[in-house]
Amino acid sequence: KKIKLKIPATVANMVCGFDILGMAIHEPYDEMEITLLETPEIIIKHKDSFKLPEEPSKNVAGIVLLKIQEHLNLTQGFEVVIHKHIKPGSGLGSSAASAAGAALGANILLENIFSKEEMIHFAMFGEELASGVRHADNIAPCIYGGITLVKSTDPIDIIPLNTPDLFVAAVHPQVEVKTSDSRQILKKNISLKSAIEQWGNIAGLVAGIQKNDFSLIGRSLNDVIIEPIRSILIPKFDEIKMKSLQLGALGGGISGSGPSIFMLAEKRETAEKIATQMKSVYDEISIESFVYVSKIN
Ligand code: HSE
Repeated sequence: KKIKLKIPATVANMVCGFDILGMAIHEPYDEMEITLLETPEIIIKHKDSFKLPEEPSKNVAGIVLLKIQEHLNLTQGFEVVIHKHIKPGSGLGSSAASAAGAALGANILLENIFSKEEMIHFAMFGEELASGVRHADNIAPCIYGGITLVKSTDPIDIIPLNTPDLFVAAVHPQVEVKTSDSRQILKKNISLKSAIEQWGNIAGLVAGIQKNDFSLIGRSLNDVIIEPIRSILIPKFDEIKMKSLQLGALGGGISGSGPSIFMLAEKRETAEKIATQMKSVYDEISIESFVYVSKIN
């Protein structure tokens, strides 16, 4: 038995919801072909040029399949062919796509043996391998689609939210920001004043998403805790944000742990203008960048 999957890129955090909010977008996406084998091996092959490890225990999809195999005492194995289009280290959920794709694919091949929460449980082993942390804010939207709220990871409690009809412009500048580094620089304690502002924004964002209230979404896309620290690692962050807002973006910020930046817009035309401007800011300082115009998926 063999299946082919398309797994979407995801924007984690959605500015104020560090580790709890995430959304799937139409583009870019990874392609995976997974075959159920009658022998217990796990074989990983990459059709892309990113030189990711293919040894199962060191591969994000491989570790997920190993954990599933171990949990079920499976005598069968899997062969996975990954064609990665979501660039590793972009902050667009590249590792989550591999991890979630492996869990989704195994579940289909094993005739829907798992609930969505169980798939998230297994996929989090992939995120742990990639970044050292069992966060689910990229995996959950990959598995559920649309926008998800990770109310808790232990126990796993995921709330799928509404999908507002919005466009997403994203830029991935070619600078390296490792998730593990960009987590390490964060403060371990925050003031009550910042916490109040932040939970006001998160609650406002979730209410805005549920009510399709774009103005409320825009007013809530503010992060007083993570962005002021992480944005230092991203060249031209403030300029891109300011120019995007001038062009009509509702708001936006760092995608996941960066270096990608995303902006939400009501019209495709606006998102396209924002993407062009994002690219030109990086062209000016000779940093190569990739831009995407997409919808929430
Ligand atoms: N919530 C995680 C972080 C996402 O911001 O570190 C990593 O992609």
